[in-house]
Amino acid sequence: MTLETIAIPKSIKANPLTPREIDLIDQVNDRIEAFMLGDSAVIETFVPCDFQWLAQCLDWIDQQHFSAGQRFCELGSGFGVAAMLAALRGKTAVGIEIESALVDQSNRLAKDLGIAARFYCGTFVPSAMAGSLALSREVDHIATGGDDVYDATGIAFNAFDLFFAFPWPGEHEFYETLVDSAATPGAMLLTYNERAGMKLFRKTY
Ligand SMILES: C[S@@+](CC[C@H](N)C(=O)[O-])C[C@H]1O[C@@H](n2cnc3c(N)ncnc32)[C@H](O)[C@@H]1O
Repeated sequence: MTLETIAIPKSIKANPLTPREIDLIDQVNDRIEAFMLGDSAVIETFVPCDFQWLAQCLDWIDQQHFSAGQRFCELGSGFGVAAMLAALRGKTAVGIEIESALVDQSNRLAKDLGIAARFYCGTFVPSAMAGSLALSREVDHIATGGDDVYDATGIAFNAFDLFFAFPWPGEHEFYETLVDSAATPGAMLLTYNERAGMKLFRKTY
C-alpha cells in the first residue's frame, strides 16, 4: 500500500460555509427527502453523507494546497453533492453513478443551481481493473462489472487529483486499493465513514 494517511483536524467543523454551499445543501436535503418519499424504487445502496462536513473538508484540503491539480471525481455520486461542492471551488468536477435515477437527480440539481459539475451513468471501476486480484475482495454495495465511463468523461482515472467516496462499512478498503493501484502518485482520496468520520489519503510517489 502506498497510501499515506493525513489527519484532518476536528476544529474545521466550526468553519463557516459560503452562501452557495449552504443553498446547495439545503436544496439537496429537500430533494433527497422528496426522492426517498416518492414513487421511485428504493435504491438501497444510496445513503447520503454529512454534506456540511464534506464542504469543510474540501475547503481545508484547498487551504493546505495538498492537491496537485484541479480534477475531482466523486466515485458513486448519488445526488452529486461532493462533485457540486468541488465545482463551486473552481474544480473540474465529475460524478460517476451506476443508478440512472440518481444521475438524473444530480444533473437536474446542477442545472437548477447553475453549477458546472458533470455526471455520468456507469461504473467508476476502471474496466482494466475490473478483474484485478487487488479488487477481488467481497463488496456487497459496489457494482464491480460493466464498462467504465472514463472515455465519456474525457478524463482517465489516473488523471484525477482528488477522489471522494462514501463507502459502506467494511468496504473502504476497496476504494483505497483502487486509488492505490490505479491513481497517479500525488492523487488524494477523501472518504466519509459514518463512525470513523472523514479520512484523507495521499498516494505517495
Ligand atoms: C453510500 S452512496 C454515496 C452517495 C454520495 N457519494 C454521497 O456521499 O451522498 C454510494 C453510491 O455509490 C453508487 N455505486 C455503487 N457501485 C457503483 C459503481 N461501481 N459505479 C458507480 N456508482 C456506484 C450507489 O448507487 C450509491 O449511490
